[in-house]
Amino acid sequence: MCGIVGFVGKRACADILVDALKKLEYRGYDSAGIAVFENDIIKTVKAKGKIGEGLSVKLKDEPELHAVCGIGHTRWATHGEPSDVNSHPIGNGRISIVHNGIIENYRDIKNFLIGKGYVFESETDTETVAKLLDYYYSGDPVEAIEKAVSIIEGAYALGIIFRNHKNRIYAVRKDSPLIVGKGNGESFIASDVTAILEYTREYYCLERGEIAMLDQEGIHFTDLHGEAIEKELLTAEWDVESAQKGGYEHFMLKEIHEQPDAIRNTISPRVKNGLPDFSECGLTADKISSYKHIFIVGCGSAMHAGMVGKYLIEALARTPVIVDIASEFRYRDPLVAEGDLAVIVSQSGETADTLEALKLSKAKGADTLAVVNVVGSSIAREADMVIYTNAGPEISVCSTKAYAVQTAFMYLLAFEIAYVRGTINEIRCRELVKGLLDVPGKIGECLEDMSVYQFVASKIFSADSLLYIGRGLDNALSMEGSLKLKEISYIHSEAYAAGELKHGTISLIEDGTPVIAVMTQTALKEKMISNVRTVKSRGAKVIMICRSSENVDTDCADYKVGLPDAEDIFLPLIATVAMQLIAYYTAVQRGCDVDKPRNLAKSVTVE
Ligand code: F6R
Repeated sequence: MCGIVGFVGKRACADILVDALKKLEYRGYDSAGIAVFENDIIKTVKAKGKIGEGLSVKLKDEPELHAVCGIGHTRWATHGEPSDVNSHPIGNGRISIVHNGIIENYRDIKNFLIGKGYVFESETDTETVAKLLDYYYSGDPVEAIEKAVSIIEGAYALGIIFRNHKNRIYAVRKDSPLIVGKGNGESFIASDVTAILEYTREYYCLERGEIAMLDQEGIHFTDLHGEAIEKELLTAEWDVESAQKGGYEHFMLKEIHEQPDAIRNTISPRVKNGLPDFSECGLTADKISSYKHIFIVGCGSAMHAGMVGKYLIEALARTPVIVDIASEFRYRDPLVAEGDLAVIVSQSGETADTLEALKLSKAKGADTLAVVNVVGSSIAREADMVIYTNAGPEISVCSTKAYAVQTAFMYLLAFEIAYVRGTINEIRCRELVKGLLDVPGKIGECLEDMSVYQFVASKIFSADSLLYIGRGLDNALSMEGSLKLKEISYIHSEAYAAGELKHGTISLIEDGTPVIAVMTQTALKEKMISNVRTVKSRGAKVIMICRSSENVDTDCADYKVGLPDAEDIFLPLIATVAMQLIAYYTAVQRGCDVDKPRNLAKSVTVE
């Protein structure tokens, strides 16, 4: 977790660092700080709280900084509470560092250093790295870095400055992301390219075992022994505009509205002549027909997209699918093996548990297919095959468009598996692909009028708790709807398979308990209506999400959220938007910080 940045050039850098950090606040916002070369010292300013409330306020009280080189950090606390002293950069006047990741053996290193006379001030694992570098530093930064990284275990991306090497930044990483940006006469480091898009679109991906040295002359890469290496310069496709709010009140709302385009960008490149085509990533028909088992693994919304995938693949391709939460999968010695396909789903491509699930699947001999949004991320690089979901940057911590594109991809994957395995014929496959390509337009229709979602939000925003119910694909969708609501509005909610309610959970229903019932599957309609009547007769206030054309009696539901007409199979993907907007407006009406919900961070690079 955490976001790190660095700048070296010929202009004052404090504002540039703060500006870049603001773009990374989605990675954590417990505290923030910068360290710069001011005159002949390393000057550090850091503060608890979000950048605007802490660091920026403190900087206003400082004399103007003229430094042209420095590093910065925005933190999501893992070791030690959010506080000024635990904030980064961390150092001792000789060396200063910013760190994203977790140092697993920090206690051993700390004990070793205490034995050497070092005194620790913070509770962070990061301070052990700063002091270890100091211990090994005798004039040559690369030598100190090489020795330190041979000792530290865990995940890290580090930006390091040494007082004796003025206007120079060193960077090294393992398992946490770090890019090096190449501007015009200036250079950057950042956890994510969105932080520096305003200044440059050209960047390098730093790999494990590489050190970057940035100074006013340019960027130099070496291996850990100081041997120079050449690296490929990449160009970010994302522009500054797409990383900004574009006139919407929140990134979440903007990203919800971007879903029609995002789905088109995910699906269209993988459709050739009206049929799915995954040849680009190496997922050939031969491979698809050979897989014995299919696993889908991810966390949170990514796992929910996998749940939709399971329903679709099993229904269309008659092939069993195991969906698992990455943090469970990796520790239960899963039965994944050679001859299986492991589909690893992640927006960021950096989620620690998901990355480990991928490595485990690979180690056990399975083929791995990453479904990832962030290009060049760890999961994308580690997997045998990659599908980039092309949703553009997702800044809001609460995932919307990333979930939608992951889910849309699951549809296409299910069609392809079913077609290759002969459980649907070519005509049906073409029909399904066409239906999927029509989904963005239908989502567009759902986005035309916000009043229905605002109305529903006004009916539930004061609730303490509510239930989402559905059957089949609607059950999978309900899990996502419930997660959205609790994540950003802090209202407790639970998703339950509608038919399972009577086995215990129905006792939660009392007079006025809101129940959001999703009913898009014709074959399950009668069953669903009877489940809804059961909760309604026990006092529930029911909000039904179904086709606009559906006749819903008032003794069944209190309010209806109508969806455009489409074949049953596509309605849960279309209804996703309604779920997201109900959560969004509920959170807004409760005055919550929608884009940065409490206790969370966008990219969960720790266990
Ligand atoms: C929920 C949400 C999370 C993520 C999860 C996985 O709104 O955003 O549940 O889906 O943390 O993240 P990625 O997809 O980056 O692996």
